[in-house]
Amino acid sequence: SRGVARDEAGALTVAGVPVAELAERFGTPAYVLDEDDLRERARAYRRAFEAAFAEFGAGVDVYYAGKAFLSVAVARWVHEEGLRVDTASGGELAVALRAGVPGADIGLHGNNKSDDELRQALAAGVGRIIVDSLVEVDRVADLAAAAGVVAPVMVRVTTGVHAGGHEFISTAHEDQKFGLSIAAGGDEQGSDSPAMRGLLAVLARPELRLLGIHSHIGSQILDPSGFEVAAAAVLRLRADLAERSGVLVAEVDLGGGYGIAYLPGEVALDADRIAKDVASSVAASAAELGTPLPRFSIEPGRAIVGPAGLTLYTVGTVKPVRLDDDRTRLYVSVDGGMSDNIRPALYGARYHAELASRTSDAEPVLARVVGKHCESGDIVVHEVDLPADVRAGDLLAVPATGAYGRSMASNYNLLTRPPVVAVRGGQARTLVRRETVDDLLALDQG
Ligand code: LLP
Repeated sequence: SRGVARDEAGALTVAGVPVAELAERFGTPAYVLDEDDLRERARAYRRAFEAAFAEFGAGVDVYYAGKAFLSVAVARWVHEEGLRVDTASGGELAVALRAGVPGADIGLHGNNKSDDELRQALAAGVGRIIVDSLVEVDRVADLAAAAGVVAPVMVRVTTGVHAGGHEFISTAHEDQKFGLSIAAGGDEQGSDSPAMRGLLAVLARPELRLLGIHSHIGSQILDPSGFEVAAAAVLRLRADLAERSGVLVAEVDLGGGYGIAYLPGEVALDADRIAKDVASSVAASAAELGTPLPRFSIEPGRAIVGPAGLTLYTVGTVKPVRLDDDRTRLYVSVDGGMSDNIRPALYGARYHAELASRTSDAEPVLARVVGKHCESGDIVVHEVDLPADVRAGDLLAVPATGAYGRSMASNYNLLTRPPVVAVRGGQARTLVRRETVDDLLALDQG
């Protein structure tokens, strides 16, 4: 029993467990993860990309982007499903290692990694460190020399493609902090691009082993064409580097960013479709360049964990507010808010909410689900129809909160961060326990 359904009494169930039971046992707010659903999405991405690229004789590794949500259990699950783990800090790296993921199956990202994080990664023998700047090339090489190891690295480049939502734009200049631009120029006309300089700098250091080139173009992408444009640019750079240095790098990473559905009626990127489109497009580019295909990797985060999670809240204050146009909006306050889901406030992200503990025959009315924080932008669901009789004590479920909910949660107003509960086959268990006020007080040294 994977997924969300309604039982005979009309109450929502997750993987066979009624939400009232979850609320009773774990309290609210709570993040609820459907383990089988998450595992299935991990498998689906791996299989889709493996199959599509195998058509052209290329191998694929799928790295789960832990920034979307990482806990020991989740790292273990995705690894059991044949994925590797992409980390973006020493904290994420520590969780992946605690889960028993071998260092060789872990990557480390970051535009400003600390010496400690790099040392930790080298000590763990991570499979790749994605270098993000020219200065970092020498920093990683020096630390590898000190540790007596050769560091496997990729160079993160920017292709001028930025995607997200339905659009992507090409720009010659990159006014953002990540990666090294492939646009030629830099300081002098006609000089090598920062990306080329980064790659040559890596080849010049014997303490570094150049695995390949990395490109990540954005997040929540629903228009797949950006991936194809960026991949073609990376393959061109790879061919240019081969011409310059005689080294044809073995790997190319296309990053994450695969978009999901947040609202009823929205359509997620289809893993099979995008894998086929990208595979055939890179095969065409490589053929044009006369280079064999590299091994590819991708780094989906949101697409694996986002739809597998929902947030369960308890309704408190319900207040009708008369609008200027004489309509009434029902403000439905829940026991969490922007501290457990910052995405509406930060990105204007839209979510859906459902009355979860019962069904109602009352007429649907215009509602807004808000949190309990002391600011008016503390909105969980901007606009949704809820039954007019929604009342204190009801449970609300907000779907598709598995990614960037808990991982971006805060203690604003000194709320305690909610637990993450996993459900599988009618059984629920805590993955990450709820914080307590004592946890918060323990940090305060008076
Ligand atoms: N790889 C790299 C290098 C990334 O920077 C990211 C996301 C990913 C993979 C995974 O992207 P995904 O498949 O999850 O879209 N907090 C924002 C999303 C920020 C994503 C940053 N990088 C949000 O809540 O929408």
